[in-house]
Amino acid sequence: MDDRIVSSGFRQGDDEQEQSLRPKTLREYIGQESVKQNLHISIEAALQRRESLDHILLYGPPGLGKTTLAGIIAAEMGQNIRITSGPAIERPGDLASILTNLADGDVLFIDEIHRLSRSVEEVLYPAMEDYALDIMIGKGPTARSIRLDLPHFTLVGATTRAGLLSAPLRDRFGILFRLEMYTPEELSAIVSRSAGILNVKAEPEGILEIARRSRGTPRIANRMLRRVRDYAQTRAEGVITLNVAKEALDMQGVDELGLDRLDRAMLLTTMDKFAGGPVGLDTLSAMTGEDATTIEDVYEPYLMQLGFMMRTPRGRVVTPAAYEHMGRRPQQSAEDGQEQMRI
Ligand code: ADE
Repeated sequence: MDDRIVSSGFRQGDDEQEQSLRPKTLREYIGQESVKQNLHISIEAALQRRESLDHILLYGPPGLGKTTLAGIIAAEMGQNIRITSGPAIERPGDLASILTNLADGDVLFIDEIHRLSRSVEEVLYPAMEDYALDIMIGKGPTARSIRLDLPHFTLVGATTRAGLLSAPLRDRFGILFRLEMYTPEELSAIVSRSAGILNVKAEPEGILEIARRSRGTPRIANRMLRRVRDYAQTRAEGVITLNVAKEALDMQGVDELGLDRLDRAMLLTTMDKFAGGPVGLDTLSAMTGEDATTIEDVYEPYLMQLGFMMRTPRGRVVTPAAYEHMGRRPQQSAEDGQEQMRI
């Protein structure tokens, strides 16, 4: 999926530039107003009490700024950040080594925290609750456990959906923030700020066009900005105008609403092969060749936000608005057909 402009995973080459575009302070951070307000209060209070910040869970679709926020939290607390991810911590010993190497006040960021194994999670519970590490010594009847004190750290966990976390882990976070998709106005402000940092000339209409097509996601907006900049530099006068943005993004297969080829394939498959649905996630995955988790975490949230697709207990269903966008006439759904045959 990572060669598509709308994929919200990190891509090599863009990583370094992505870093330079990331805001470093809450003041610079655009959007997520409620998260910012609450975070500001919690940080100020923790600083006044000279305590570490409560553990924080950030959840929401990829590309909305979870890693960026973790960096900001550490910077605003005046502390260092250690970044790792659920899949990277394979054994309990890996986590024990990370925890014992932290310093007082450090922020430990665990991305994709829902992918920690149960045995690793169990090391995390006393660490989060009591800043303690329980180590088993020996085996069998003579086994005993000793408790080591850990520094007072703050865990910032990130996941695409809070529901993916086990209840005991979720309950140990003091603060839970859900990140929302950004509005075109917020994305325009982000693209405008990024254009300034990248030294690209862009007209407001060109910026808004990029914002509109970036499916509520800053990471996608910034990636589109770089692709449109390339196009402007080589095929136009170097300035991102409305037309330049349109042409560049059309060429990338991204339509006016930000849908790419895979979004359109999912909608058309459901319309043409399943009479609008319901169709199961695994079937969609097989028909489009895209991983089911990616469809669920990356593609569907935006299609649902647009009101183009709904999740029902029996599968995915496309809406009349989706038919209209794709220039097709809504058909009777398979279910309606059956109902009629029975009558
Ligand atoms: N770059 C990426 N996300 C951003 C945000 N939320 N605010 C400012 N710049 C950003």
